[in-house]
Amino acid sequence: MCGIIGYTGSRKAKKILLDGLASLEYRGYDSAGIALCDADGALRTIKCGGRVSELASKANAIDFDANRGIGHTRWATHGGPTEANAHPHASKRCVIVHNGIIDNCLELRDELSAQGYTFVSDTDTEAAAHLIDREYAALGDPAKALYSAARYLCGSYAIAVIFPERSGEIWAIRRDNPLIAATSADGAFLASDIPALLAHTRMIYRPKENEVICITEAGITKHNTDGTVEAIVPEETELGVTAADKDGYDHFMLKEIHEQPDAIRRAASHRINSDMLPDFSTDGISEEFWHSFDSISIIACGSATHAGLVGRYVIEKLAGVPVTVNTASEYRYDPPAILGKTLALAISQSGETADTLAGLRLAKSQGHPTAAIINAVGSAIAREADCVIYTGAGPEIAVATTKGYATQVAVLCMMGIKLGVARGTLAADEAARLCRSLSRDIPAYVSEIIGRRDEIRKLAVAVKDADDLYFIGRGPDCPAATECSLKLKEISYVHSEAYAAGELKHGTLSLVEEGTPVVALANDSRYFDKMAGNIREVRARGGYVTLICTDDFPHPTEYGDSIFVLPKTEPLFSPLVSVAACQILSYEIALLRGCDVDHPRNLAKSVTVE
Ligand code: F6R
Repeated sequence: MCGIIGYTGSRKAKKILLDGLASLEYRGYDSAGIALCDADGALRTIKCGGRVSELASKANAIDFDANRGIGHTRWATHGGPTEANAHPHASKRCVIVHNGIIDNCLELRDELSAQGYTFVSDTDTEAAAHLIDREYAALGDPAKALYSAARYLCGSYAIAVIFPERSGEIWAIRRDNPLIAATSADGAFLASDIPALLAHTRMIYRPKENEVICITEAGITKHNTDGTVEAIVPEETELGVTAADKDGYDHFMLKEIHEQPDAIRRAASHRINSDMLPDFSTDGISEEFWHSFDSISIIACGSATHAGLVGRYVIEKLAGVPVTVNTASEYRYDPPAILGKTLALAISQSGETADTLAGLRLAKSQGHPTAAIINAVGSAIAREADCVIYTGAGPEIAVATTKGYATQVAVLCMMGIKLGVARGTLAADEAARLCRSLSRDIPAYVSEIIGRRDEIRKLAVAVKDADDLYFIGRGPDCPAATECSLKLKEISYVHSEAYAAGELKHGTLSLVEEGTPVVALANDSRYFDKMAGNIREVRARGGYVTLICTDDFPHPTEYGDSIFVLPKTEPLFSPLVSVAACQILSYEIALLRGCDVDHPRNLAKSVTVE
């Protein structure tokens, strides 16, 4: 949510800022703006209550550019998505952009108004701008002003500030919100994430929480509370330039679906040793860790919760370790009662999700050991968990997660195998078979599914006009169905729900009438008879069944109005294959309905507010 970009150096800033904002669009936003400031302190702010393309037209029509500037994409929280509320927001001696939420903004607005500051927007950010201005006026030093302002700010923030009178400098501070700094031969940058900068540089620095930094053409400096200043040497990111572009695909989502087989393979094989057994030593996790808890409490949001549901299934089946899966927004206020020593396991692609972070902090404060499964390296949740397992999916730009989810599932499956071996519930040869299946067969099957896009498009055509669509499954297909359903509704706007197939007749079956589409997942032969019965119940009421089943499902043509046959997989890992098929199904339905696949309405990629 929201994106920050900043540049200072020998080049003109306007184009760099506008291109940077375009590459941050995926994070979700509804208004945008830039501020340009030249060496003499002349400042020009350009904003619009719409897309970055509109901002670019407006900015390019103005004959002003400078070598220093900050830009922002805003996702409205305090006040509507209007031009007046768009960032940057200026005070007397500074102009700022801000991601996050200032919880005490009403008190600050009252206090600052009483001190003579005038507000021209409804935002919390403007209060932060005036606060920083007040502290700067009193202390005469940007670092002192930012540290002092931070003491008054409650909430979360990443803030970039230009003090026009301080030539060439851009200052920044963050708390619970992402912000990176970077250097290149011709200047320095700030951004909310790395892909926004890959066209310019791969030399990245991640400021710590509440650390004040300053970027100039010469590089990055860190300003400590005791007044000392340190020059920062950024590190080279592993990400290549194509990590941030569509690489010939029509959409980022399609590109990321295609990246799944490799991503799953990497996530699994990175944790398999030469004996084909699970090994998390490269994650820095000791053998003792696997014996150090009685149960696991997963804390996550959205698709990460759905990955957690698959993880629960696999871990409980292979290792007998009890797992609860908790929606982070609930857990953070009402954590469940627990028995024994519980590992709090946060799962997050972005590593920034506010509720998941808060849940992790709560678990920590209650004395639980913590771990996190994260994609974004160095993100807030990764920094705060006692140990981190990186999924290594690479940048995920489409709002709807695909490879992010798949790699979370792959890591959880590896954890299940590892726990099974460590706790003696899984024999070594069976563990090796499962490792082989996850690292070799599953990626190959997902590749095969992706190659059958034309077949899946036909399934999509048959249901594209539906108002409602239900996914049903049993066993491993049950958690898989939850993710399939979310994928469909978020990108195609078709209302959808997922049910344990046996649950349908306890209420929802009343919604099934002539033509109601139901997607039935059947990948585990233990449940084929039961699934056949549930499908019959649907068809008896006129429901239209899309059957997605493995090739050993008996007489599929008697059950499915349309059928998509999957290769026979290890059932525990089958969600990786069936969800891939449903990701493509959702993608095709969204295309047929003319939806903006990569940027679904109302949604943001990184949900950094509550
Ligand atoms: C759905 C989706 C979201 C995220 C959720 C958590 O496609 O992407 O449901 O899974 O917002 O995000 P992370 O994993 O970044 O914490």
